[in-house]
Order: sequence, then C-alpha cells, then structure tokens
Amino acid sequence: MRALDDAFGSREEAVTAFAPGRSTLVGEHVDYAAGMVLCIAIDLGVAVALRLSPDGMYRAVSAGQRVARVNPAPAGDLGDRVFAAGLALRRYGVDVPPYEVALAADVPAGAGLASSAAVICAVIAAVLRIVGGRLGAHDVVSAALTAERDIVGVPCGSLDQHAVVESPEGGALLLDCRNDSWTAVPWPWRDVVLCACNTGEQHDVGGAEYRSRRAQTELALRELGVTSAQEITAEMIEAAGLPVVEGRRARHVASETARAVQAARAMREGDAHHLGRLMTESHRSLRDDHEVSTQALDAAVAAALRVPGCHGARMVGAGFGGTVVALVESDSASECAAAMSGGAGGHACSSWVLRPCAGLMHLASDVVTSG
Ligand code: GLA
Repeated sequence: MRALDDAFGSREEAVTAFAPGRSTLVGEHVDYAAGMVLCIAIDLGVAVALRLSPDGMYRAVSAGQRVARVNPAPAGDLGDRVFAAGLALRRYGVDVPPYEVALAADVPAGAGLASSAAVICAVIAAVLRIVGGRLGAHDVVSAALTAERDIVGVPCGSLDQHAVVESPEGGALLLDCRNDSWTAVPWPWRDVVLCACNTGEQHDVGGAEYRSRRAQTELALRELGVTSAQEITAEMIEAAGLPVVEGRRARHVASETARAVQAARAMREGDAHHLGRLMTESHRSLRDDHEVSTQALDAAVAAALRVPGCHGARMVGAGFGGTVVALVESDSASECAAAMSGGAGGHACSSWVLRPCAGLMHLASDVVTSG
C-alpha cells in the first residue's frame, strides 16, 4: 500500500493479493505436448497492492520503476502483464475499470520459476477483490493464459498458470495437460527439501529458442500421427524415421511425461531416492534431447549431485538459463546450495530452500472458487 501512495499519491484504500511461483519436479517442456507434469507452487511469489485509478490512467510501480498509460495494451514495459490481467478478465465477463498497482516480488524474474504467471494471477485476484467479483479456478487459469499468450504474446503452455492457481496445500499437482485435469500428491517428507539455485543467467520464455522447441515438438507429434506425448512409444519413434532433431524432441516429451507419472508414484511411496533419480534423468533429457540447458545449469546440477544427501537435481522452467532445483536431505541443504552456487561458473547465484505452497484457489478462496 505504501508503495502505491509513495509512487502515485495517497488515495482510496487498496486491496492486496499474493500469488506463488512454481517449481516443476518432473515434466518440463511437455505441457505444450499434452503431457503429464508434476509440479509445486513455491513459497516465493508476487504480492500486489491495487486500487482503482482516479483519472482513467493505468499505473504500475515495481522496484522503483513506474509506468503510467491511458492504454492498457502491451507496450513492452513492466505494465504489460499487470494490465493484460485486467484486459483478460473483461473477456470473462468481469467489469474492470482502470487501476493502479504496486508489485513486490521475491520470486526472481526470468529465472524459470513462473514469475510472469505469478504477476498476472496476483493482479487477477486483486482485481476480483476490488470489483467484488468471483471466478472459478478453471476460468482464472484460462484468463491468466489469455493474458500471457494472447495479449502479451508469449507462446507458453499452461503449466505455470495451473501450478500457480491449483496447487494443493502442502503437496504437488500432477497435471494432465491433455484435458487439464489434476490430482494432488502430498509432500511425504519432513526432512527432504527442494534446494534452488538461480544461476543468474536470464532465460526468455518469449524467445526464439522456446518457440523453436515448441514448433519442433509439434511437428514431431504431427509426423507421428498423435496429439499427445502420452501416446508416443520408443518403437513409434524408431519406426517413423523422424529427422534427427524431431526424433530427439519426440524422445524428450515421451520419456519426460512417463517420468512425471513415475515421479508422482515415487512421492506417494515416500521414495525420495527414486524421485531424485527421475529428476536427474529429466535434466539429462532436457540437456541432450530437448537441448534447452546451458553450461552453468549443467555445472550446478553436477555440483549438487556430488553432495552427500542430494537425491537428484535438474534445471527448472523453460531453460536457456535460470534455476536448478535439487532434492536434498534438509541437513545437507546449505551444503548443496553452496555447492550449486560455486559450481554455476561465476554467475551471481542466489539460493533458497523451497517449500510447497498452496495455490491461489486456496490463498484467495474468497475470489477464486474451486470450480
Ligand atoms: C515455461 C512455460 C511453460 C512450460 C515451461 C517448460 O515456464 O511458460 O508453459 O512450457 O516453460 O516446462
């Protein structure tokens, strides 16, 4: 609230909202191939204070940067996602007047932890609060996707929005991207945590590499005559004689979606060692078959794996930079964080112990209903 008053002068009461970021456990780069994903919402996220605009201008302030515009359409600045959230809500029948927003994020931007989805979802919850609206979780996911994909123009899948909105309290979400259904998988360990290290290399989900992975994967699916990674078998890939690149992409999405299902089983059985092994295999597949890792990410993973008590490690998010997460015994977490930071090759690393956090439909159940 103070941030709004300081930036734009003190006026009427604001409302607040918080949306978490996410970490995938296993199931990366498969959402756009109708695969399976096991992910959590994390206890790092984006808090917003929002109030109605007194003069029809849209305003946003974050970390000392400010924008003020008459037009909420994307203009290539920090207001893009903040205002796209309101534009998307209008498409869901919510009457959204111009607004002013202050953001405070502890989830780093561009680090593979879904900060963009968290911004949009936090603004959606705050707008719903200020106008006295309510939407079902499913519509909030769709509105957040509309904002990111159709309005801002990022060609993402639906993983981040589902994780941010629908993650269960104290557990993971096993998401089936074929039909957007999900089940909750409780976090079974008291003494096993996720340790994250942001390598500091900026990734860009809107960038050419993400787009090309998506296009190559879609081409591979078409050539195999399937609509989902869940239908692909190793024999099919072999028999189809796909070009080298499409063959690799098909191998990644097929193996990764199978691993996500196995990872959920490992969690249900409380088998941290097995989950860790699947996470490390996921990293290798992202590195070798999907080709989205970097030297710094590979080095941080290798460093984590050398720490006794680390069950497995992998890059998280779109890749081409960003964050590594390791599944680790809690009393080895600081050693693992230090090893990853040291291993990531001279980048300015930050590290955290991440805990599963409830999604928006639990945190903002006054405005986001479970339907
Ligand atoms: C980004 C996208 C998601 C997903 C991941 C990779 O976070 O926004 O839709 O594709 O990359 O799993």
